[in-house]
Amino acid sequence: MKIDILSLFPDMFTGFLETSIIKRARDKGIVSIQIHNFRDYTHDKHHKVDDTPYGGGQGMVLACQPIVDCLEAIRQEESVVVLMSPQGKTFQQHMAESMASSISHLIIICGHYEGFDERIRAFCDLELSIGDYVLTGGELGSMVISDAIIRLLEGSITKASHEEDSFSQGLLEYPQYTRPLDFRGMQVPDILLSGHHENIRLWRLKQSLARTRQRRPDLLEQRQLSLEEKRLMAEIIAEDE
Ligand SMILES: C[S@@+](CC[C@H](N)C(=O)[O-])C[C@H]1O[C@@H](n2cnc3c(N)ncnc32)[C@H](O)[C@@H]1O
Repeated sequence: MKIDILSLFPDMFTGFLETSIIKRARDKGIVSIQIHNFRDYTHDKHHKVDDTPYGGGQGMVLACQPIVDCLEAIRQEESVVVLMSPQGKTFQQHMAESMASSISHLIIICGHYEGFDERIRAFCDLELSIGDYVLTGGELGSMVISDAIIRLLEGSITKASHEEDSFSQGLLEYPQYTRPLDFRGMQVPDILLSGHHENIRLWRLKQSLARTRQRRPDLLEQRQLSLEEKRLMAEIIAEDE
């Protein structure tokens, strides 16, 4: 996969590009990421990327020309262009999954200041938000989205390790433990030491269901439970009463 990110602040990406799974995925050629400073595409000698809003008001608005020229220099037929915006669709795991499996070239435009000239939206395929809050710029959001996608690309991490992640199956993940067995009086559940794979699977599934019911009941409303899950859920409800 190729990811091109348009940003006025390329330095913000240094740690992201050079660390952990993202660095490994780049080194292995699973993903190539390039940051483009659209200030380089301005026509005026002061490299001005923004201007005051028509009609008056606070702050500065990013102008169309530098962003659109930069976009047109890198856009291919297969490119999908995402505009980072708090007004966009909220990014979710299922979107990361579908983007990882269907997109070969992703372009992400990061805004800053008061936002964009409205006409920039006409050049984008998708507007994405990372949550209902307003950030200074789109850079953090573009890293969030890229990270969520890159870890799902084949070869980044093993499939088994993200298949049980929270949201992958529409549930939150079960509790995990590692050594020591006893930490300040808190014990690892016996079942995890039993070596009985089927019982461990059932315990984990039940924990996932109970945790999702308690913390994110909205996820259960959108999910069809299997017969086995219905049986475990009935046990959870009975234990609660
Ligand atoms: C200060 S914000 C502008 C917000 C704009 N005035 C509005 O109310 O919609 C500057 C830029 O940060 C990015 N941004 C801010 N919050 C975001 C969020 N929750 N998700 C995605 N991008 C965000 C967008 O690229 C946005 O253009």
